[in-house]
Amino acid sequence: MNKKFPDGFLWGGATAATQCEGAWNIDGKGESILDHCTNGDRMNPRRITNTIEENAFYPSHKGCDQYHHFEEDIELFAEMGFKTYRLSINWSRIYPNGDDEEPNQLGLDYYRRLFEKCKQCGIEPTVTMTHYDMPWNLAVKYGGWSNRKLIEFFVRYAKTIFTEYKGLVKNWLTFNEINFGTISYGEFATSGIIPKCGHVIMEDPNATQEEVNRRFQALHNEFVASAKVVQLAHEIDPEIKVGCMMCGFAYYPLTCKPEDVEATQRSMEIWNYYSMDVMCKGKYPYWAKRYWNEQGIELEITEEDLRDLKNGCVDFISFSYYRTDCSAANHVVKEGSTEFGMKNPELKATEWGWTIDPKGLRWLLNEYYSRYEMPLMIVENGIGAYEKLEDGKVHDVARIEYMRDHIVAIKEAINDGVDVFGYTCWSAIDIVSAGTGEFKKRYGLIYVDADDLGNGTYNRIKKDSFYWYKKVIETNGENLD
Ligand code: BG6
Repeated sequence: MNKKFPDGFLWGGATAATQCEGAWNIDGKGESILDHCTNGDRMNPRRITNTIEENAFYPSHKGCDQYHHFEEDIELFAEMGFKTYRLSINWSRIYPNGDDEEPNQLGLDYYRRLFEKCKQCGIEPTVTMTHYDMPWNLAVKYGGWSNRKLIEFFVRYAKTIFTEYKGLVKNWLTFNEINFGTISYGEFATSGIIPKCGHVIMEDPNATQEEVNRRFQALHNEFVASAKVVQLAHEIDPEIKVGCMMCGFAYYPLTCKPEDVEATQRSMEIWNYYSMDVMCKGKYPYWAKRYWNEQGIELEITEEDLRDLKNGCVDFISFSYYRTDCSAANHVVKEGSTEFGMKNPELKATEWGWTIDPKGLRWLLNEYYSRYEMPLMIVENGIGAYEKLEDGKVHDVARIEYMRDHIVAIKEAINDGVDVFGYTCWSAIDIVSAGTGEFKKRYGLIYVDADDLGNGTYNRIKKDSFYWYKKVIETNGENLD
């Protein structure tokens, strides 16, 4: 049997507002948390500053300047044959302070122009409502998602954009990588550091009990907000489909010791299924009570919350997939660690130490599908690499190889019977790295002439992968050479 990619498969690429738009303080936009994040690199973590410091560089202020290049970018995506472009709306462009009564018309107009351009080019947008992003004011004034008030503000924002873009956007994603935690919680905004990774957020050995509670409450509040907006979306437009967006955490046991297998199961449960069960099944997993007890977690969960969670299940699952890691019983996460887990000694890794594991994608697709039997979309997958422009060309061989192998794995999963309906690579075009704030960690199919400090012409140049992906899409995934 050799099933093909289904007709109408959503091929495309993805970006996120604070990593690509730039134009951080014009046309009525408010400040977002990311606008307070400095650049960094592998060795030097990004900082969040309370004020915008004169001598610091804030990569979101320039991104790849898509705000001023969106027409050109979308035309290039159309040239590659994109069926969808996954992007995010910058909440602070629509509600500059998050708690405003009225939206910012210029912000609404920008995304309308962008979606209309997509339509003209035959591209269906897939839109993330918030990608690690929040109006700065909500973090500072309310403490971010740990405050239930945020639910109300998010619902107001959702109502505005669902109504405004009715007919233009059908596929929505609520929270980018909700299971990852990081700065989207907002509570960190004033602490001066960017929290490192999921482990540190949810199982931080150095966090006080109060902090742990706040983090889990923040996550719960996000779940409720997501469930409410799923219901709202269906009321506003029955055509709309809303998905969750997960960081695809894939863990293998480091050894076949039963203790390591047990630890692996626990990692999968905590990092994936804790969130996915709530969003896809409408309830916390059966083991949550024991977990909360053991961790001393006390949550405020109302009867209305439980009803909302039940009635607000998502229509599909979307997720990012970059790497796999290992779990072991004796693994202690070091303070300040940026690890997801333990490194798999069997796998090669990128220059940033991310393991490369296409087979893991087939495995994870099967894991998710066997558990939820919901349509799946891979909305991020790609490789960050140092790249050079030589004679007007970029020979990004590693990217082609990485994407080819992962697309083969998706095809295998489709042959297994998994319902996969789309793939958007990360990233459609070079943008700022979320983790390090570097520009030189390039993921795009289109090169942007810019450096880590925002110097350059910001001209767009097609990489070799551009031409390769065009062929892949033209043949609906048949020609991968
Ligand atoms: C995903 C995020 O986790 O990883 C993106 O959703 C991010 O925003 C991507 O850019 C790659 O990570 P990084 O740190 O290399 O940019």
